[in-house]
This record gives sequence, C-alpha cells and structure tokens, in this order.
Amino acid sequence: MSQVLHEIEKKIITSLKNNEKQTPEKLEKSTNLSPDQIRRGIEWLKLKGLAVVTESQAISLSLGKNGLESFHKGLPERRLLDLLKNESKKLQDLQKELGNVFGPAMGLARKNNWVDASEEKIFLKNYPSELPGEKTLKQIGENKISKNEIDADDLSFILKRPDFIIENVIKTKEISLTDTAKSIEITAGLSGEINVESKVPDVFVARTHPLKDTIDEIREIFVTLGFTEIIGSMTQPSFWNFDALFTPQDHPARELQDTFYLDGISAKKIGTSEQIKKISESHKKGWRYNWDINEARKMVLRTHTTCVTIKHLAENKPDEARVFSLGRVFRNEKVSYKHLVEFNQIEGIVVGKNATLRDLMGIQREFYRRIGITKIKFWPTFFPYTEPSLQTMVYNDRLEKWVELFGMGIFRPEVTKPLGITKPVLAWGGGIERIAMLKYGLDDVREFYNNNLSWLRSTTKCQ
Ligand code: PHE
Repeated sequence: MSQVLHEIEKKIITSLKNNEKQTPEKLEKSTNLSPDQIRRGIEWLKLKGLAVVTESQAISLSLGKNGLESFHKGLPERRLLDLLKNESKKLQDLQKELGNVFGPAMGLARKNNWVDASEEKIFLKNYPSELPGEKTLKQIGENKISKNEIDADDLSFILKRPDFIIENVIKTKEISLTDTAKSIEITAGLSGEINVESKVPDVFVARTHPLKDTIDEIREIFVTLGFTEIIGSMTQPSFWNFDALFTPQDHPARELQDTFYLDGISAKKIGTSEQIKKISESHKKGWRYNWDINEARKMVLRTHTTCVTIKHLAENKPDEARVFSLGRVFRNEKVSYKHLVEFNQIEGIVVGKNATLRDLMGIQREFYRRIGITKIKFWPTFFPYTEPSLQTMVYNDRLEKWVELFGMGIFRPEVTKPLGITKPVLAWGGGIERIAMLKYGLDDVREFYNNNLSWLRSTTKCQ
C-alpha cells in the first residue's frame, strides 16, 4: 500500500532505515529536525502504524557524599587497616586520625577479625587485599559501571551505608520502524512539491451496481428522447399480460413451464366490462375458440413489461404518446449463462397517426447509438400482438456473432381496436441485462447477481 507522507515523516523513516533504533535525541541529530518536529513526526508515524516506541528503564549508580570521600581516600576500614599496617596504635590516636568514621571502621574491623586490641593498643591481625564493597566503589567512582556488570553482593555492602551510593532511574524512549514502514520506498521530493504521479491507496467507497448504472443510463436516454416513464405492477392478471395482447389461452407461453402463476389467486376485477367483452370477441373471432374469463383472472408474475404499456394505452387511449417502462419481469426458465428467472426489461411505445415501421427502426437505431451500439440489423420475427414484427440483432465484436436484442412491431388491430385505440402504436421491448452484458463484456448474465466484489470494484464507471 502506498502512503502519503509528510516531509518530516520521510526524514525520520529514512534515518531509521539506516540506524534501526534511535532515541528522539539521536533522531534530532540524524535528521536535523527540531525536538518538536521529531515529537510530532513520531506521533504521526505511530498512528499510521509505521513506527513503534519502546520505553525502557535503566538504573544508573553514582556516588553520594560519603561514597565520594571513600573513593578518594579509601573506605574508612581500609584507612584504619592502612594506619595499622606498620605499627600498632593507641585507640585515641586512631580516633583522632579518622575522625567521625572511626566508629564504623573499628566496628567492621573488629567484627571481621582484621584487628584486635591488647592493653592500650590496636594491632593488625589480617590485611585483606580487597575489602567488601571496595571494587564496586571504584567502578562507580570511575564511571565504569553499568547495571548488568555489577557484582550484586559486592554492591550490597556499600548500598546500605548512608550517602554512599545514589540510584538514579533513567527512562529511555527508542523509536523503530514497523515492517510496513521498512518496505516503504521514500521518494525524494522538495518539500511543498506535489508528486502527481505518486501512487495513492485504493479506496473502495460505496458505489452503484453496474446493472443499476445501465438502467439509469437507459432511463436517461429515453427521457432525453422525449419519453415519459410509466410504472406498472409486477403481478398482473393474465388478462393484461396475455389476453389484452391477443395471446390465445392455449399459447405455450402461458403454460406453467414458462410462466409463474400466483398459486390459487384469481383477480376479481380485471378490466371494464367493455374491455372484457371486446377482448373476448377479438379472441373468438381471431383464434376461433371459447375464451374463458377464469383463465384471464389467473394472476401471474409479469413475463414482460408489455402488459404495462397495453394497460396504459387502454386507460388513456392517446392519439399521440411517447412512453416507456422499466422493470423486473419473471420467466420460468432454467438458469444458465444466458437466462435468469428474473431479469429487467425496457419497453417503449410511440403512438401517432403517421407513425410507421421506419420510425420504429429509426428510434431503435438512435437508442442503440446513444448506448454505444452501432452495428445492428433488423430481422423479421413473430409476436402474437404485433404485425409486422421485427427483432434487432446486434453484433458482438468479442464473440464475433450476432445476438438478439429487442423485439418490436406495430400493435395489431386485434390488440388496439377492442381497447378503443385508433392510432398506430409502435412498440418494442427487451432485456436490459443483455445490453449490460455487451457494455461490460460479460459472457455470463449470472455475474450481475454473484456479488463478486472484485468484479464490482473493477468495473469502470465511465465508458
Ligand atoms: N414483449 C416482447 C418480449 O418480451 C418484446 C416486445 C414488446 C415485442 C413490444 C413487440 C412489441 O420479448
């Protein structure tokens, strides 16, 4: 991960890379920064997990007043022994020579059997070359001691004696780099200069789903082309999903294998009695069978958005209109790389007394152009509700083949007349996932619903 570092941080890191552990004071010297800059830099690096501060305690020993005196003149007991080295001496004389240290010196010498007394004189019995505490006193006096070198037993002899040894607690802070910091490459830069090419950390903020982006883009295209959006229910009586669209009641699309029915649910009111009567007649006349209202009452999950436009037409009977609808539709398909049981459709109609098939093809071409698809052609096809019926084929450069996109046509009089629509209606509709697959170069439609974070994060927003 790359980091944006302040000049102070860069200097501290560089110095610590050369010299692994340093006290703040050392860092001041090695970086030429002020104590305050060092203090701030260390805090920043700590917060970013780039530096650690270890605190340690050491005890340093130094000599007190009596210790110093003994360092220079010898321990009181040593001085006593030295006085007696060549001759025995009277107690009073020794007292005079040693002053106030005579008492402790004499006490120790007697106790250890170094001296003895006979009549009026003190004489030497034993002259140890090294007395307890003597070595430690010398080491401390010469400043040659560190706590771990010390002979603890020897120290204990003089530690108890008043004003001999002073213990000072010294706290030290040392700064070192974490592994992350060690791997950072510090790029030289004049302070104040911004390196516009430096790597920045990847930030994964919340973002909209690519499919949602495609839906929004399609919506925007139709709105800018002067269309108005209408919204319909995802559940519909078969009447609007099939019957109003002149789809006979024995049409295979209506079978359970293709359509999801709401189990046992029948719509009470499916349309006006006029609409029901006219549509029933249209089916009897056109398809020559006994139309059954109970079949039309069966509720389905809409299999296309065409039910929304036909209902809108029936309710508004416009002489002129440009309307579109977007939404989820449902089909009882086997899920595969090209089929889902739920997907999204875009649907549109243009109503106008002079509307022609050529206009319909022109609108399609313009829509595809705006979405970025230019290589298209129209093929004849069949829908129960349009005549003529066409299908757009678009060329997929990556797969090097033509793929079906939208279905379209002009609503048949068998559809429009019973509903009181008198002007020609151009209608089209198709799957949005298909378009999104082309846009994002996907071969498997399931990818949109896999929630694969790395794919979602890596898709480009602007295309
Ligand atoms: N409803 C058709 C489908 O789902 C598309 C279509 C809409 C065809 C309008 C003609 C007219 O594929």
